[in-house]
Order: sequence, then C-alpha cells, then structure tokens
Amino acid sequence: MADQISEEELLDLARKFSFRSRMDRNAVSGPVMVWGRGSVVRDVNGKEYLDFNSGQMCAALGHNHPRIVQALQESCETIIHSHMSIFNDREIILASRMAEISPPGMNRSMFLTSGSDANEAAMAIAKRYTGGYEVASPMVSFHGMNDSTRAVTFSGWHEGYGPYAPGNYPMFAPYQYRCTFCRERPACDYTCLNSSFDLLDAQAAGQLAAVITEPLFSAGGVIDLPEGWLQELKKKCEQRGALLIVDEAQTGLAKLGTMWAFQQEGVVPDIFTVSKHFGGGIAISAAVTTDEIEERVAETGLVVGHSHSNDPLPCNSAIASIDIILEEVLVDVAKRLGEYWRQHLEILARRYSLIGDIRGRGLLQGIELVEDKSTKEPAFRKGQEIGRTCMDNGLIFSLRRRGSVFRFVPPFTTTEDQMDLAAEILDHAFRQVTAST
Ligand SMILES: Cc1ncc(COP(=O)(O)O)c(C=O)c1O
Repeated sequence: MADQISEEELLDLARKFSFRSRMDRNAVSGPVMVWGRGSVVRDVNGKEYLDFNSGQMCAALGHNHPRIVQALQESCETIIHSHMSIFNDREIILASRMAEISPPGMNRSMFLTSGSDANEAAMAIAKRYTGGYEVASPMVSFHGMNDSTRAVTFSGWHEGYGPYAPGNYPMFAPYQYRCTFCRERPACDYTCLNSSFDLLDAQAAGQLAAVITEPLFSAGGVIDLPEGWLQELKKKCEQRGALLIVDEAQTGLAKLGTMWAFQQEGVVPDIFTVSKHFGGGIAISAAVTTDEIEERVAETGLVVGHSHSNDPLPCNSAIASIDIILEEVLVDVAKRLGEYWRQHLEILARRYSLIGDIRGRGLLQGIELVEDKSTKEPAFRKGQEIGRTCMDNGLIFSLRRRGSVFRFVPPFTTTEDQMDLAAEILDHAFRQVTAST
C-alpha cells in the first residue's frame, strides 16, 4: 500500500490525522519508513538507512528476523490472542524458557505488553510484598510514560501532567563525567548514593517499597554505572526492607555482552524487567522475580494484567527471540561488534575535540559532545546539526541530552562493513559541521 502513495501525500495525511506526541521529533517531516531487513531500513522514496537505533531499540535482533517471521506465521496458524486468565501453551513455555536464562531462583515471569507496563507491574509487586508505597529512582533513569513510571522518570518528560501519586523520589545520578561530588576524586566513592539516602530517609514516610534503576542509563545519556554502585544500592535497599528493581529494557538479552547487565555488576535484583527486543520487534514485556516474592504477592491477591497479557502471538515471538539469542550466541556478537564500534568511536574522538567522552558497552554505546573539554559546555547545536547531516546521509541514531549525546544501538545483525560505513558518515558530518563553525 504505502509504496503507492508518495511521501508528500503521506505527510499531508499525517499533518491532518496523526497525533504529534512523539518523544524526539514532533515536526511532521520525512523520512517515512516502509521496509526493513537486518540493520537496514528503507523509506518511501527507496532511500536506505543504516538503523543504528534498531527502530525504537526493539529491532535489535535485526528487522524482520526470519525466525521471528516464522513464529508469527505459526501463531497465525494456531492462535493469536487468548484469555488473559486461562493458560495457553506459549506463555507457559516462555515462562520456563525465561527461568533458564535468568539467575537461579528467579523463576517467575509475568508477561505484559510494554516496558512501562512491566515496570508498573514490578512496582506493584514491590508495594504488595513490602507493604510500602514509596519508590525512588536515579535522576537519569528512564522507566516509561504511563503515570506510575513517568512519576519515577526524572530524566525528562516529567513535568506538566498534574500531581502524581505521593511517594516518588529522585536520587542523585552517578553521572561521573559531570558529577560534582567526585569531580576532584579518582573514582566514585558513592557520595551521590549516600547523600540520596540521607535525603530519602529524611523526607520519606519510612515506607520505601523499591528503588528502580537502569543498569546503564540509556535515554538519560548512555551513562555507565560506577563500579560497585549497584552493589551499594542493593545493600541500602536491604537495610530498609525495600526491593531493588532493575529495568533491563535496553540492556538485557545479550545487548551489553552478558545476558543481563546486572551480571556485570555482581548483583542479583529482587525483580527485573525486560522489553524492547524481547519480542524481536513484537510488543511484549516481562517482570521476573523469585518464587518467594511471587508466592507472597500471588497468595495475598495481587492482580496485574491487561487484555493482551500472556497473548500467544507475542509469547511465541519471545520464545523465538530467546532461541535466536542462545543459538546465535549473541552475547559474543555484542562483545565483538561492540569492541569494533568502540575503535571507530575512539578514532573519531582523536580526530575531533568536540567528542568529550565515550561511554557504554556492547551494542549500546554513546559519545558526549562538548564545546570545550575543560569547561565541558554541552555542544547542543553542533550535535543536532551532525545528527541531521547523518540522517540525510543514511545513518540513523538517537540524540540524547538535547543533542549533546549520540546513542548508537546497531542491531546484532550489523556487519563490520556496515560499521565502517556508519563511521564514515559520522566522520563526514563531524568534518562538515566543525569546519563551518
Ligand atoms: C529503560 C527503559 N525502560 C522502560 C521503557 C518504556 O518502555 P515502553 O516504551 O515499551 O513502555 C523504556 C523505553 O524507552 C526504556 O528505555
């Protein structure tokens, strides 16, 4: 259908009928995408782009992976949708497969649709389990845009939606590149964390149910955790009887070179959530926890779910995505490709003083642009110009922190040649923008 309608006609329709409430681009403008395979997407004019954002990070296994397509076809032959309270075979198989790839004892999975749903469910579980209601989260963490997750998302998109339910608190972010606590110190000494808990203890009602955090802050600017920080956080939660929820939407399922990012921190959370490429491009999410937590909340009447919870079609896609992750050994792919891409970023950083910092791991890496390395003034405008030029030249990636951070999430299917080409497009854009200013 779409290839019979021109871009201009489609955009005219969008101007009349589409709701402009998007996260990064609110203008109605091209490109308009119509096709995707592996790491490449094509717009309605036939122009191809390297997709270093993996769609909205959900196509990290590659666009239209044949195994996912096959799983969808199987569901079309059997059953697409089912009753959320009557078991279906796909959700049971998926729950058992999740237990295989989760830490020992984290055997219980609940399936929902979006990352926001899964985080909302995780917080509901923590509230029922602890009897508390307060939730804290680092200021650079992102957890979604339903009311309960927006309330604990302080990295932006927070203001203007009226009062939230009481009991949500921001914590200082361990943003080492810009941290004022440890600026003069060789490493993070957790002053940010200690100060956050001093404030939390002072202002909270003593009913902390959970702390929710990403294990690498992606939307907030590709910010790595300082070593040991998550372990310290876990201890502080335990001291207060609160649960630790780790949101693995962007970092889990092999993306950072381990099945889960929290494994790299030597921490096992009480609950973790999964979404994004879990369904290989199909919407499905999960909240995963221990037998003990599941038992207590289920037996005391927890009800969480939506009309599409546990649907066979997305569950079958997620089974296929676990197969792909294990059979194609994607943890190794992420490590190998991540190192290759890192070398390109390092070459660019040596060439352009605009690049102040390189961060991230595996297939989630970023660079921060600064006008001056000593003042670290963010290079918002130049970042936006470079981003625009790259898009024009066929490379898609995400601009964070108002354009001063570039986030790269190439799919696992990306080849070294495609990475070389992406680096060339970036190099050209840096050269053009730095020469004209
Ligand atoms: C870390 C993290 N958690 C949760 C979400 C929300 O997921 P969804 O958009 O599927 O609701 C996102 C979305 O980008 C995310 O990056």
